[in-house]
Amino acid sequence: MQSQMTAQEIRQKFKEFFESKKHVILPSVSLVTSDEKGVTDTTLFNSAGMQPLIPYLLGKKHPSGTRLASVQKCLRTVDIDDVGDNTHATFFEMLGNWSFGDYFKKEAIEWSFEFLTSKEYGLGLDPRRLFVTVFEGDDNAPRDDESFEIWKNIFAHAGVSGERIYFMSADENWWSAGDNGPCGPDTEMFYDLTGILNDGMTKADFLVANKLQQIVEIWNDVFMEYEKHDGKVVGKLPQRNVDTGAGLERLSMIMQNTRDLFEVDLFADMMNLASKIAIEKKSQKIIADHIRTSIFVIGDGVLPSNTDRGYVLRRLLRRAIFHTEKKDISTEAVHDFVASVAVTYSQTYPEIKNKTEIIERAINEEVEKFKKTFPQGLKTLATIKKYFDENPDKDTKEEISGKDAFHLSSVLGFPIEMTIDFARENNMSVNIDEFFEEQKQHQNLSRAGAEQKFKGGLASTDEMSVRLHTATHLLHQALRDVLGEHVEQKGSNITPERLRFDFSHTQKMTDEEKSKVEKIVNEKILAKIPVKKILLPKVQAEKTGARHLFGEKYGDEVSIYFVGDTLQNAYSKEFCGGPHVQNTSELGHFKIIKEEAVSAGVRRIKATVLV
Ligand code: ALA
Repeated sequence: MQSQMTAQEIRQKFKEFFESKKHVILPSVSLVTSDEKGVTDTTLFNSAGMQPLIPYLLGKKHPSGTRLASVQKCLRTVDIDDVGDNTHATFFEMLGNWSFGDYFKKEAIEWSFEFLTSKEYGLGLDPRRLFVTVFEGDDNAPRDDESFEIWKNIFAHAGVSGERIYFMSADENWWSAGDNGPCGPDTEMFYDLTGILNDGMTKADFLVANKLQQIVEIWNDVFMEYEKHDGKVVGKLPQRNVDTGAGLERLSMIMQNTRDLFEVDLFADMMNLASKIAIEKKSQKIIADHIRTSIFVIGDGVLPSNTDRGYVLRRLLRRAIFHTEKKDISTEAVHDFVASVAVTYSQTYPEIKNKTEIIERAINEEVEKFKKTFPQGLKTLATIKKYFDENPDKDTKEEISGKDAFHLSSVLGFPIEMTIDFARENNMSVNIDEFFEEQKQHQNLSRAGAEQKFKGGLASTDEMSVRLHTATHLLHQALRDVLGEHVEQKGSNITPERLRFDFSHTQKMTDEEKSKVEKIVNEKILAKIPVKKILLPKVQAEKTGARHLFGEKYGDEVSIYFVGDTLQNAYSKEFCGGPHVQNTSELGHFKIIKEEAVSAGVRRIKATVLV
């Protein structure tokens, strides 16, 4: 049995280890991916440490050099249905190290092994409890014999049998963050939790042990030298990269001698609190996991809603509420959960401690909201049941249709588990296949929507979107006029129905401020001002004082759109690719629909033009 280590000690060891190997340690970025960054950012949350680094894996120069490491907050909802077992969580921290065209397989694998097994500089794990997999090869890339040989040597050197290396297909040993971007074969490391598995296990036994959670994957070294487009490997990258990831919670599990992720120090308080509002262990885990994730998501500026990130958050919170005994979480309990996460992560993620009030409010509001639709959902179910009671027909199955189940889930916010439980209790069933069919269709629709969004803000060039785009520029300037020069664009999204504009400002806007902004924009519309475009070299463009996004990369030549006769007397000028109307008179009447908070210090306006 190796010595115990807290999660914090593991983070620290990892950073020190890779610092000693000349890596620069980066801080964790937000869980929220940036909308504006372009084609590779197609997920709502960072799901791996590599995600914020994609441009550098593709060849861009990183200001901190070619060797980096980090401990990154991550969120993966693909495994949400597995939460409740011993090894899955939706939020986790990923320890990762990267080489951008610097070292490759040999160093990467040797360092992973050294960190895992070194008693002095690493975790001191027993190499006899490690098992590894390597890529078996396919049409895209050859079998990874190089990694196989490296592992064989390492094990031989450590005095351990080499019969613990398995070749696997691309399903297991090929990694990419999505359908586009850098990717490559990987080698994965597994740890025997039982301490009784032997070297020489067949591949079939290895797979069974994995299924039974007797072994657990703890680290993945990806050799990113390929690039994918639309799911297909299209060729090699200009440089050979390394991208690795090890889950902190899983390493903590091993270092704290438990076979249950939810027994590690990071979860101790949360599980204790969850045990007060749920009886079943599985429910307690789901509650602890989902609330912890929600706290981090809100901490990074997301609020519950019916779309995108807000929807993920809503689902997590509602599932947590559903798993409580009373279908309720009191404000006191919410307070305790948030306080517990704030304390557990006070050193690592102080943002939680600094935002406890906002986080508690957001969760309490969602609990209240759900309690409102909850009876409605029950009523719908009761109606279905009544129908079956009144129309007993021996030939028809008493089944809740997939459509109804989907309506309950998507409109009334009723998680599918609740519908299934209700059905079971009332001798009915749910047509799950149909439900998933409905959900898939819905996901396809929303995926299509998301793809549009990621094409760069203004995907649709229909007339309304063009009008709203110009209106966005006017709104931006009007907000600065009314609220002050601190107003900066934080995000923008346009559909044919409305514009959405996020900007830095700390307070809720008063009604008076909102009407002032509307008045200014409408005055500019009535003044029939031309909207013009000018192309300038970047250096000169910056001197014009035109607004542009901080941190955004622009090309050598920039196009500026300005609202005015000349650039000098323009009311608004912004770096922008367009398209725009030719004259403000084309816009119609400008109207603010809603003004709300997005996160601390960021407000959001939804507005439209009535043509
Ligand atoms: N990006 C790789 C993973 O998440 C390391 O497994």
